[in-house]
Amino acid sequence: MQHQAHKLTELVKEKKHQNFSTRFIAITSGKGGVGKTTISANLGYVLASSGFKVALFDADIGLANLDVALGVRTEDTILDVLKGSKRLKDIIVNVSENLYLIPGESGEEILKFGDDFILDKFFEEENMFNDFDYVIVDTGAGIGESVQNFLVASDEIIIVTVPEPSAITDAYALIKVMSEKNGKLNLLVNQVRSEKEANSVYKKITTVASKNIENCNINLLGAINRDENIEKSIRKRVLFAKEFPQTLPSSQLNRISTLIVSNMEHNMLLEEEQGFVRFFRKLLGKF
Ligand SMILES: Nc1ncnc2c1ncn2[C@@H]1O[C@H](COP(=O)(O)OP(=O)(O)OP(=O)(O)O)[C@@H](O)[C@H]1O
Ligand SMILES: [Mg+2]
Repeated sequence: MQHQAHKLTELVKEKKHQNFSTRFIAITSGKGGVGKTTISANLGYVLASSGFKVALFDADIGLANLDVALGVRTEDTILDVLKGSKRLKDIIVNVSENLYLIPGESGEEILKFGDDFILDKFFEEENMFNDFDYVIVDTGAGIGESVQNFLVASDEIIIVTVPEPSAITDAYALIKVMSEKNGKLNLLVNQVRSEKEANSVYKKITTVASKNIENCNINLLGAINRDENIEKSIRKRVLFAKEFPQTLPSSQLNRISTLIVSNMEHNMLLEEEQGFVRFFRKLLGKF
C-alpha cells in the first residue's frame, strides 16, 4: 500500500508538471445498489489525499447520495447554476483538503438545460474549475438516455458490478449499449470474496461480449472485497479509505486509483476544447 501511495504521489508530480486539463471519470452500473456512491466518494478521497484536486459530481438523486456518504450538507445544486440563479462557486462544497462536492440533480433534470444562452453563461465560469485535476461523476444505474450522455461525455468509464447473476446481466446490458458509443470500458467488481471471484465475473462477461459485441474492449480495473468495515463506515457516514486505511479494501482501492491515473494519462488526447467546457458541451449535445 505504501508503494501504491508513493506511486500516486509521483503521478501527481508528473501530472502537475505537464499541466493537464480536468479529466472526467464516470462511475456507473447496470444494477442499482452495487457500490457506485461508496466507490466514488472513497476514490475521490484517495486521489485528493495524494495531492490531486478532486470534485465529486453527484449526477444521481437516489436515496444514498454523495452528500450523505461524505457527511456534508448541501442546499443548492448544479440545477440552480444552469437556471442562472447561483454561481458555480456558491454551490460547491469543500469536503476536506483537495476534495470538493458539486451537488447534482437527476440526469434528466440537468439535460433539460441545453439552452445556448444558459450554457454560455455557465461556461463563463469554467475557468475557476479548470484547476480540478479530476471530476468523478456518480451516475444513476441503468441504461437510460441521461446516464448514457454522462458516460459519453466522460474521459473514462468505470462500470461497477457485484458477483450476483442479476448484476452481471445488467452490467453486460450496459456494456453492450456503451460499446457502440465508447470503445473502452473499465470493470470494477465490488463485494467479492476473493480476487479469483472477480476474475471469474470478468471472464463471464468477456466470454459473452466477445461473441456478441463488435469492438468490445473491457479492462478489468480491479476488485474490492466485501468487508464489514465498509458497511460500518457507510452507517457512520465516514469514508472507509480514511477510517480503515490498513484494510484490504483500502489497499485494493489504492491500487485501482493508481491504475486509473496512469491509464488516463497514457490515453490523454490533445483536444482543442478541454475540461469543463468539453464535458458539458458533450453532455448537452452542443458540439
Ligand atoms: N465492498 C463492500 N462491502 C460491504 N458492503 C458494501 C460494499 N460496497 C457497498 N456495500 C453496501 O452496499 C450498499 C450500497 O452502496 P452504494 O450506495 O454505494 O451503492 P450505489 O451503487 O451508489 O447505489 P444506488 O444505485 O442506489 O445509487 C451500501 O450501503 C453498503 O452497505
Ligand atoms: Mg448511489
